[in-house]
Amino acid sequence: MLTPSRGRALTLPAANLSGGMDSDHIEKQYGRPPPRTKGLTYTMTARRKLAPGRLIAATHNPGKARELAALLEGGGFTTISAAELGLAEPEETADTFRGNAELKALAAARAANEPALADDSGLACDGLAGAPGIYSARWAGPNKDFRAAMQKVEDGLKAETSPDGEVDRRASFVCVLSLAWPDGEVESFEGVVRGQLVWPPRGDKGFGYDPIFVPEGETETFGEMAPERKLPMTHRALAFQRLKTFLLE
Ligand code: IMP
Repeated sequence: MLTPSRGRALTLPAANLSGGMDSDHIEKQYGRPPPRTKGLTYTMTARRKLAPGRLIAATHNPGKARELAALLEGGGFTTISAAELGLAEPEETADTFRGNAELKALAAARAANEPALADDSGLACDGLAGAPGIYSARWAGPNKDFRAAMQKVEDGLKAETSPDGEVDRRASFVCVLSLAWPDGEVESFEGVVRGQLVWPPRGDKGFGYDPIFVPEGETETFGEMAPERKLPMTHRALAFQRLKTFLLE
């Protein structure tokens, strides 16, 4: 079972306090301000931690559930997805990755009365002013037709060809991971991987937009890479690394 463990000293340089923990937050949650220490802004004694156990992967996307389970593997966690638990899939009504990740994590944590981890992610194309972004899944339509969604990206990029014939193929995969507790507390962490879009799509190993995305420094698309090669370099893994530093270690 996942339980918050309190009281462990966690000393962090101020520059690392990007996980949302500040003195107001500590005071609100734990009823006292953080103790001041010499040479550092604060010593964090109160961050909520996750003890190994069961964690809900708040997703109905089997590709994401697999990747979240793989990231948690080895840390003593077992994951069960919101789909396996038969939880309703909340409507993604926020207009940011973070807003949507938090509403999914909170909905699952409250419905199951257990901590839940959600991811909101997508492809942001420089040449399309960040589209499809939070609409990445929706571009595939109700039938989740990613071949059509990738075609839409390619057509959009071509339509934006510059007068000298240049197509801006730069893009990012973005992921926000949110961990929510049933009492409504939620913490969020972001990961971004930069790359180039290729056409035609290549590879059938991944999901979503993987076949058109080549991460920086690589020649294969995410769709051509074996999962164990793709996973450590993904936006999801980068966000998870941050979450781990703040909530698991
Ligand atoms: P959502 O986070 O459920 O709104 O869905 C995000 C969508 O972005 C997914 O359905 C995929 O189409 C796309 N996406 C997110 N992460 C990846 C990835 O690692 N590879 C390929 N597509 C992704």
